[in-house]
Amino acid sequence: MTARAASTGLMIRRELRQADREPVRAVLEGTGFFNREELDVAMELVDDRLKLGEASHYRFLVAELDGAVTGYACWGPILGTAESADLYWIAVDRRAQGRGVGRALLDECERWMAASGRTRIYLETAGREQYQPTRAFYLACGYRIAAELEHFYAPGDAKVIFLRVLESGR
Ligand SMILES: CC(C)(COP(=O)(O)OP(=O)(O)OC[C@H]1O[C@@H](n2cnc3c(N)ncnc32)[C@H](O)[C@@H]1OP(=O)(O)O)[C@@H](O)C(=O)NCCC(=O)NCCS
Repeated sequence: MTARAASTGLMIRRELRQADREPVRAVLEGTGFFNREELDVAMELVDDRLKLGEASHYRFLVAELDGAVTGYACWGPILGTAESADLYWIAVDRRAQGRGVGRALLDECERWMAASGRTRIYLETAGREQYQPTRAFYLACGYRIAAELEHFYAPGDAKVIFLRVLESGR
């Protein structure tokens, strides 16, 4: 399934292809946000999906701008819960940030989650200064801070858990 934003050249597809692997890695590295361990974890999820396909726990959305991979998101249902889902990852090519690609990815992700019966959407990010724009993005997209775990990542760097409750059947 795909969603196309009229006249912007932006297309979001609910499919991860082998050819996306390196562009996705480049997007992640290019943000300058993720350290080696985080990059490895992100790529493990990519490789799990590429290897297992529909049997993978991880669902991917890929954003293409004028035919080039420009961002992606990854989510999955939280096992053992009735209606909860995790947004595991979202990233947009540094050069394309601030132009609505992240919001379009999240919108399409939420439509997919809601259609799958997952309407309580959780995500976590860091409390340190570097992530202030990221937290502003989530707040702008309708998420609220549900919990904050002080000093989780490092002294002075909290884990911030965001939540959005979707209307069902979006
Ligand atoms: C966070 C990220 C995915 C957002 O994607 P994006 O394409 O830049 O965001 P959008 O242009 O769709 O912005 C959507 C809204 O978020 C808000 N927003 C985005 N960036 C912001 C910033 N730097 N400061 C304040 N608000 C911001 C804006 O209010 C915008 O609303 P608008 O449409 O009314 O202008 C992207 O910037 C990114 O990849 N960042 C680095 C990696 C990262 O932090 N990933 C999340 C890991 S937890």
